[in-house]
Amino acid sequence: MLFAQSIKATLAKKFAGTSFSLDQQSPIVPIRHMKFDFDPQQIDYKFYMNAELASAYFASLSIFLTYGEDLVIDTARYHRNLIQDPLLKQRVTSLIGQEALHSKLHEELNDAFLKVDLPVKLFRTWAGWVFDYGFNRLPQPMKLSLMAAIEHFTAVLAEYMMNHEAIFFESQDEKQRAIWMWHMLEESEHKDIAFDVFQTLSNNYALRIAGFFPR
Ligand SMILES: [Fe+2]
Ligand SMILES: [Fe+2]
Repeated sequence: MLFAQSIKATLAKKFAGTSFSLDQQSPIVPIRHMKFDFDPQQIDYKFYMNAELASAYFASLSIFLTYGEDLVIDTARYHRNLIQDPLLKQRVTSLIGQEALHSKLHEELNDAFLKVDLPVKLFRTWAGWVFDYGFNRLPQPMKLSLMAAIEHFTAVLAEYMMNHEAIFFESQDEKQRAIWMWHMLEESEHKDIAFDVFQTLSNNYALRIAGFFPR
């Protein structure tokens, strides 16, 4: 037992990631209750860059993101119970709140896509398989790493979208533009919370790489 513990301690030291201090945390982020009331008649098939294929990518991303967000919410809830620091706990609660609203409102957008005959059912089935038989069955430490990786991916996407905002003004579909802009603003706002949790509870560099790999 002692031998196993010393191996574990040595490996933890060897694979420790960058040091992190709870004193350097960002403030709590607000939870904004948005309402879009998507109208299927107003959906622009060429919302992104006036191109159907690129816009279909965004539509499929809108579907897959809801599954990723549900994983983030479940994983954040589980690990919130293991956190001692009150500020980090509150930040995790605000992450959960923001992601819950993203998932809910993207589902409303996806329902509007469904009404204009986009293959939403097919993509929901695929995403369901990937998450139900794959990611959602991973052990919690791996899910924590995956959660940090998902948040990194959305933060990079947010940076891209905010730096290329003009692309989203090529379409008259102001509701699709609004949901993506609101969502990406909040992704940028809470981008460090999952990673702070990972560093606080694990900080294992090998696990961090493993979680990023499926992205
Ligand atoms: Fe989100
Ligand atoms: Fe997020």
